[in-house]
Amino acid sequence: MIIAKTIASVRTQVKEWKRDGLTVALVPTMGYLHEGHASLIDKAAEMCDKVVASDFVNPTQFAPDEDLEAYPRDFASDCELLTKHGCDMVFCPSVDEMYPDGGKTDTYVEILNDMPKGLCGRTRPTHFRGVCTVVSKLFNIVTPDMAFFGQKDAQQLAIIRRMAHDMSYGIEIVGCPIVREDDGLAKSSRNVYLNGDRRRAARVLSRSVALGQKLIADGEKDAKKIVAEMSALIEAEPLAEIDYVTAVNNLDLAPVDTISGSVLIAMAVFIGKTRLLDNFVVEV
Ligand code: PAF
Repeated sequence: MIIAKTIASVRTQVKEWKRDGLTVALVPTMGYLHEGHASLIDKAAEMCDKVVASDFVNPTQFAPDEDLEAYPRDFASDCELLTKHGCDMVFCPSVDEMYPDGGKTDTYVEILNDMPKGLCGRTRPTHFRGVCTVVSKLFNIVTPDMAFFGQKDAQQLAIIRRMAHDMSYGIEIVGCPIVREDDGLAKSSRNVYLNGDRRRAARVLSRSVALGQKLIADGEKDAKKIVAEMSALIEAEPLAEIDYVTAVNNLDLAPVDTISGSVLIAMAVFIGKTRLLDNFVVEV
């Protein structure tokens, strides 16, 4: 696997692959890779000739009071996982390489409708502006044919689809299913912060997802009732604190009252200081 630290070296390599008529996939990551990321690399390798993963903890998507410094990192283990899953190149730039003006940028890519304002955007108002900016930079650097994102970050996936459409990137955005631990907890780099009772308490998210799915399978169509029952289950867990549980349209993330069309039911829940996400999509 090629380890590329500079934008110039990525461009040179991708140009060579494209000259040979090969298709290129991009899997953007912030490192500390787990089986969820591995599933994105596998899917990318299945659909494209060459796979580029980026491994970059992006400062512009963290607010000043968030866990940027504490964000877990292990580049050696990332390289091991990427190599094992057939990644061809990892792009691991420094902050200066990506943001040469002292880690900052004067230019952002930002969606101006309500998509970034609800769900996680209520408590992280500048987060998706940072995500769109870095993903847009990665699209410009790697110029992939396809880019792969996890469904666990459902709001991010919907926003990136919208950004790619609005900015005419001509890149196919592929969403990949949530990968779970044996007990149902969605895989996340932040799970490393959970131990003992907190790790056990974290199971309440996937139990709540299962409850929502069962209610819908049994014929419930009232989104408020479903959200209320899912929330009550989480509230019964003393170590859990709900940030949000909500039902929205899966395309534009507008709140819905009835389960009809493509509906995303998503949650963010604090277990101690660790904020965990989970969700499911239902197509009616
Ligand atoms: O999902 C993530 O890990 C990040 O938000 C992403 C897409 C790599 C952008 O930094």
